[in-house]
Amino acid sequence: MADASTIPPGAPARLPRHVAIVMDGNGRWAQARGRPRTFGHKAGVGSVRAVVEASANLGIEALTLFAFSSENWQRPQSEVSVLMDLFIASLRREVRRLNDNGVRLRVIGGREALVPKLQEQIAAAETQTQANTGLQLCIAANYGGRWDIVEAARRLARDVADGKLDPETIDEGCFADGLSLADLPPPDLFIRTGGESRISNFLLWQLAYSELYFTDTLWPDFDTHAYEEALAWYAGRQRRFGRTPAQARQQQGA
Ligand code: IPE
Ligand code: IPE
Ligand code: MG
Repeated sequence: MADASTIPPGAPARLPRHVAIVMDGNGRWAQARGRPRTFGHKAGVGSVRAVVEASANLGIEALTLFAFSSENWQRPQSEVSVLMDLFIASLRREVRRLNDNGVRLRVIGGREALVPKLQEQIAAAETQTQANTGLQLCIAANYGGRWDIVEAARRLARDVADGKLDPETIDEGCFADGLSLADLPPPDLFIRTGGESRISNFLLWQLAYSELYFTDTLWPDFDTHAYEEALAWYAGRQRRFGRTPAQARQQQGA
């Protein structure tokens, strides 16, 4: 298992403020070892710990992890149930470590569909870490990017129906205010492990200008070294946001 203390002092010069990760490949990792898929989910918890602690140590502001998508309910009931139990146990076990590292936790997604015990554990972990001012850790559970956009649209529609909002005044800013993570900068760096090059209904709106990093490394093998490689790759990107390379160089002060 990776250890955050292995991060060398010469960390990448240009750090992302917000990193979003699709933690994929647990099932294949387990199957390659002749074990059930759930063995991979359990092993994946170690990578979560490593990446959270490395992010906190590096001073990254926010880390959003895709733990369970709105589509993952379609998996066999036995696998879903192990994932829910693992989530409950991990939240209970890790809260102390999160506090030790100054990490504030929140969960995004439709939590009303999660088992009541998990909802309680989430509420407890959020309360117990709410005073922390270090890394903002966001776990996406029963989350879908389309769901997020529809929720924001519904809020605006309600305000219009109540006569509180003029549809003509709706702009990108007020739409974004209704989305998950509205209080955070959008992800600068998106990472997907497990070899697939897709977003799988993760943060659709928020990823509009993220740098996209795909690696074949399976999530349980994604240690601090692999994370550092992704951060180093990010440090070498030129972010142009529609401008010319020369303009972007000036903007980045390079
Ligand atoms: C990611 O690993 C974890 C979840 C989606 C919950 P997978 O379970 O998708 O692993 P693979 O992609 O089948 O190997
Ligand atoms: C995306 O992984 C969801 C999470 C990592 C939680 P999946 O394994 O569910 O994605 P697809 O089905 O391969 O697109
Ligand atoms: Mg997968």
